[in-house]
Amino acid sequence: MYILGIETSCDETAAAVVEDGSVVLSNVISSQVDLHRKWGGIVPEIASRAHMENIMPVLHEALSASGKRLSDIGAIAVTIGPGLIGALLVGVSAAKAMAYSAHIPLVGVNHIEGHMGAALLESPDMQMPFVMLVVSGGHTHLYYVRGFRDYEKLGQTRDDAAGEAYDKVAKLMGLPYPGGPVIDRIAGEYAPRASVNGGPKFPRAYLEAGSLDFSFSGLKTAVLNYVRGRDMSDETIGLVCREFQDAAVEVLVKKSVQAVKNKNAGTLVAAGGVASNSALRSALLSASRENGFRLVIPRPEFCTDNAAMVAASGYRLFKLGAASGLDLNPQANLPMEKMKTGG
Ligand code: KG4
Ligand code: ZN
Repeated sequence: MYILGIETSCDETAAAVVEDGSVVLSNVISSQVDLHRKWGGIVPEIASRAHMENIMPVLHEALSASGKRLSDIGAIAVTIGPGLIGALLVGVSAAKAMAYSAHIPLVGVNHIEGHMGAALLESPDMQMPFVMLVVSGGHTHLYYVRGFRDYEKLGQTRDDAAGEAYDKVAKLMGLPYPGGPVIDRIAGEYAPRASVNGGPKFPRAYLEAGSLDFSFSGLKTAVLNYVRGRDMSDETIGLVCREFQDAAVEVLVKKSVQAVKNKNAGTLVAAGGVASNSALRSALLSASRENGFRLVIPRPEFCTDNAAMVAASGYRLFKLGAASGLDLNPQANLPMEKMKTGG
């Protein structure tokens, strides 16, 4: 069965055709990063307008690159939230129009369910339950996933999301948006020298004993205080990137391992844009070996926003009877744990 996935929740206009929830026939992403870069972050109005311009060409390209026609599509899976409401509306409206005109079933997918779908693309045989760490520009959450639409929230950030902290820290050092991949690269390049030259020490926020919540605003402020008034040579920028990344990754990994232990889970899934971070990936891999759990992380291009991941989850939701009516509407706030089959 072929699923057409559509994703427009933030600053990527994306469409993909996926066969049986696991074989990616096409995966088209039109990124707006260049449009937003000069503002140092995403401007919602600009995002909505760019989605309007891009949605039809992206849909056409996804279909033609897959070698399929609209009449071959068994269901259309679309992200309905959380995200920017104007951006979401473009994808949902296009999905509804196509579903109505071509008599194709429609499936609304939560954006976090979409990120989870990327792990299913990577390991289609993956069994539930599992613990999932979702780390992106908008989210830092730990969930216990018993099954589709059976999600227990274990913890979440109390302030900034991990990706947001990466982006803000990069911005205050004058590095380009989005900051995550830039800090990842600089920290990696600098890593061998960092321990020799010393440098700043930033706090790790573990919060109350046993808490699976996160906080990144203190880390961000510590970087701000260190950077303010200092001559930022390439070496200093390297040291700050390295120490910031070590601090963020250490907390993300320790809390994820704690969640796996608390739930006695056999598998940890890491998903979302920050899961493409090289330091986080290798630290999670070491932790999985030390603690004896299976780790599933999608390849980096499926970690950041795309529509193949939406189609992968949409396929499984459709099989479970979660088709939506044409009254489907996007919601800017749409908690995972409130998702119900049929809506
Ligand atoms: O999942 P995503 O594409 O969009 C949201 O749903 O938010 O995540 C985007 C976020 C941005 O904050 C970006 O800086 C971050 O993911 N990111 C990274 C890396 N690649 C993307 N953060 C750290 N290291 C990376 N390699
Ligand atoms: Zn995302």
